[in-house]
Amino acid sequence: ALTRRTFLASAGAVIAAAGGVSPLPAVPRARAAGPREFRLTLGTGSARIAPEPYPETEVWAYNRTVPGPEIRVRQGERLRIVAENGLDEPTTVHWHGMRVPNAMDGVPGVTQDAIAPGDRFVYEFDAVDAGTFWYHPHQRSFEQVARGLSGALVVEEAEPLRVDRDVTWVLDDWRLTEEAAIEGDFGNAHDAIHAGRLGNTVTVNGRIPDRFAVRRGERIRLRLVNVANARIFGLAFAGHEPLVVALDGQPVEPHAPEGGRIVLGPAMRADIVLDMTGRTGERHTVTDTFYEGLEYRLTDLAYGGEALRERTPDWPVALPANPLAEPDLDAAERHEVVFNGGMMAGMRMQGADGREAGSMMAMMREGSFWFINGKAATGTDMEPVLTLRRNRSHIISMVNRTGWYHPMHLHGHSFRVISRNGVPTARREWQDTVLVGPEERVEVALVADNPGDWMFHCHILEHQAAGMMAVIRVA
Ligand code: C2O
Ligand code: CU
Repeated sequence: ALTRRTFLASAGAVIAAAGGVSPLPAVPRARAAGPREFRLTLGTGSARIAPEPYPETEVWAYNRTVPGPEIRVRQGERLRIVAENGLDEPTTVHWHGMRVPNAMDGVPGVTQDAIAPGDRFVYEFDAVDAGTFWYHPHQRSFEQVARGLSGALVVEEAEPLRVDRDVTWVLDDWRLTEEAAIEGDFGNAHDAIHAGRLGNTVTVNGRIPDRFAVRRGERIRLRLVNVANARIFGLAFAGHEPLVVALDGQPVEPHAPEGGRIVLGPAMRADIVLDMTGRTGERHTVTDTFYEGLEYRLTDLAYGGEALRERTPDWPVALPANPLAEPDLDAAERHEVVFNGGMMAGMRMQGADGREAGSMMAMMREGSFWFINGKAATGTDMEPVLTLRRNRSHIISMVNRTGWYHPMHLHGHSFRVISRNGVPTARREWQDTVLVGPEERVEVALVADNPGDWMFHCHILEHQAAGMMAVIRVA
């Protein structure tokens, strides 16, 4: 039986209980011709996150749902999204991973003024790439996202993969009190200097998912979206062989996940093709094994109903490429960004230039804990850390001199991940967010073909808020 004590498990543990995973209704099409119109109204509300007998949780939501409505369009369509701010504080909407014009990127103070309470902002842009993306505020995002503001944005290919079901799992992580209220300890130094705001309750599409109903023989395209502030997921599907077909929305050569689990840092996405090879009546566990010693059961694949077919379909699983410019590695200009900071930073910075280490230590005393090339962003001085010449190829080498993971995100572009610690990657995957491990060096390559000032930051939102953010200018 579920008790409050077991529910309020320590960070990392999750107690599953009854409650299905229901797909969200798509926002209806407003007009046949011209842009597809959507309305996102921000406000407060309540959501049933913890099961009875817990009270509902007070949240901040888009269109009163957590997560926000899934926006679904076809590649090449134009979107027009009216965002109305019914909150008591300013906000913006950022279209994570979408290659939008700079003015539509939703970064307060950089690409637009924040949307004041009671105000609205109209975003309009084309869906250039097919894939799985998402949206969230870029204003005080460490609190606004954690209170429930996020949603999936799916751009379908002209000819979608043939599957029986196309399903989105928005994965979130909540820090709840014993009364199932959102813990209000935002901005605390402990989260900022360690792994970020890890919660105690993981949800799929806003619910604690006891089971996910499947049928034998079914083929599912599962779109995994990690909207958590800080939690890294490492999902393993016991008894099944998922194939990863896209990462961060961009097609990748279909492959079994390395180490048998799909690793997703905050903001990252994976599209997987999952063939339901179990038998009717069986239950197979989906576990999150990322943090050692804190493994937990996320949900079960529960086989019911009639088998759909006895043999695995032989339909193709490879996705068509998106229109991304291929970087020329020989001609590319090289840049380096170095990350410092976090708990134990003092010890690690001793090797650095004495003056640089000294100024970083001083900034840490002021509450800035993370540094990109020796600087912590405060939000006011956003001089670019790099300027990339437009339409040229560039290699950015990210050097992590910290003991922590950082999912590093660049706005406005996708980049190829070309090497890790000097070793070329097997698939040179396109990403917009790359998980950089402790002491790791990761190289990415891109053509800087989208002009403007673009944010480059850690997507552990507490790290971002404590300085791990910069502007990269494309000019
Ligand atoms: Cu998903 Cu700068 O953000
Ligand atoms: Cu980080």
